[in-house]
Amino acid sequence: MEQFIIRGGSPLVGEVTIGGAKNAALPILAAATMTNDIVEIENVPDVKDTRALIEAIESIGVRVQRTEDSVVRIDASHVKNHPIENESIKRIRASYYLIGAMLGKYKDINVVLPSGCDIGLRPIDQHIKGFEALGAEVDTAHGFINAKAERLLGAHIYLDVVSVGATINIMMAACLAEGKTTIENAAKEPHVVDLANFLNSMGANVRGAGTDVIRIRGVQKLHGTRYAIIPDQIEAGTFMVAAAATHGDVTLHNVIPKHLESISAKLSEMGCRIHESDDMLRIVAARRLNATHVKTLPYPGFPTDLQPQITTALSTAGGTSIVSESIFENRFKYVDELTKMGARIKVESSTAIVTGREYLTGAQINAPDLRAGAALVIAGLMAEGFTTIRGIHFVERGYENLPAKLTALGAKIEKTDSERELQKFKLKYA
Ligand code: UD1
Repeated sequence: MEQFIIRGGSPLVGEVTIGGAKNAALPILAAATMTNDIVEIENVPDVKDTRALIEAIESIGVRVQRTEDSVVRIDASHVKNHPIENESIKRIRASYYLIGAMLGKYKDINVVLPSGCDIGLRPIDQHIKGFEALGAEVDTAHGFINAKAERLLGAHIYLDVVSVGATINIMMAACLAEGKTTIENAAKEPHVVDLANFLNSMGANVRGAGTDVIRIRGVQKLHGTRYAIIPDQIEAGTFMVAAAATHGDVTLHNVIPKHLESISAKLSEMGCRIHESDDMLRIVAARRLNATHVKTLPYPGFPTDLQPQITTALSTAGGTSIVSESIFENRFKYVDELTKMGARIKVESSTAIVTGREYLTGAQINAPDLRAGAALVIAGLMAEGFTTIRGIHFVERGYENLPAKLTALGAKIEKTDSERELQKFKLKYA
């Protein structure tokens, strides 16, 4: 069984280059199918989620090529518009981005309903509300979602909850609708803005992305482009928290410091020093972290996708911290695993009360989902002794070369596939 083995206790020190944002790459790959011209996308992270989406679009006749390292070339001029139900697409949440893209282009789409990380109920009512407002008929049956329309007509849409996925999906479909669409209470995440910039580079007319009102004037068709995806806010944040939790000194390259403000602010409160310049950020954590309180919120608030990582770092901070999760209802499942490592965390509905201990101890643990998996890797790096982590396919959904990047920062971590490799690692670092 594939697992990570980690010998904890070394501070992370050195430099790391952050990859392209997975959560921007997914909608951008889907949106690239909205034109019959060639689209080239730079900075596409090679992770399981992007591979799954690429396989899904290939299954309907889209030609996809990795031309250079991290550059993907897409030719969607030969799409056969039949149901999309390829095996890997069933496991990723972002499969639903194909609905907005294909509904816009072909006015008819059938795609298997998404699953994604199990972090609580993940309804898609706001996506459906948006498609219906644009004039589509939407039906779910036999595990599929079907959306079709004679014509898509621009509309005024107010989202009842701030949803990244619904904002993105409606924005894509509205680009090829007739007339003007307004999305109110829109999500403001960096990847929403990145998608809007990408669509505009294809000839769309999207204004206001990054604020809570997005205005889209429909165009008849989109054209080819070459576009570079923004750096991954969550990968960067994960390395920042890992540096802080191991009392390290790490310089991150290829980041947008503005996107990391909520994380930098929290880590500063916890006693870290942060230095920023254009596309670089250095974090130094010379001493034990201070306890603090964290509440997850839509951007520009503290991201829910970094909640497990920061909670893990707080498990050895001086004092008691309170972490409130306000986006997803069941995002503390990893706490049981941290408890096996000695953490003292009490969860009461959507709040975790974290009593900082001096240290964690290595244990055999399981990753319950993507970001929690990354948090458990951080726990392993912090802990005394050896930690093995199973369920690493979750981590590989969203982090490119994580063991290699951590090893370059002085971590002792390997991906192993056999008992023999595990024992060899233990002997090496006994
Ligand atoms: C995206 C990210 C995910 C991140 C999340 C919040 C991708 C592929 N995933 O997920 O990593 O954790 O944003 O930043 O980009 N909701 C509804 N009805 C809907 C849609 C959402 O009630 O139709 C609720 C959800 O249950 C949740 C909240 O809205 O409580 C936010 O969800 P949303 O922003 O849509 O998350 P995702 O787009 O699924």
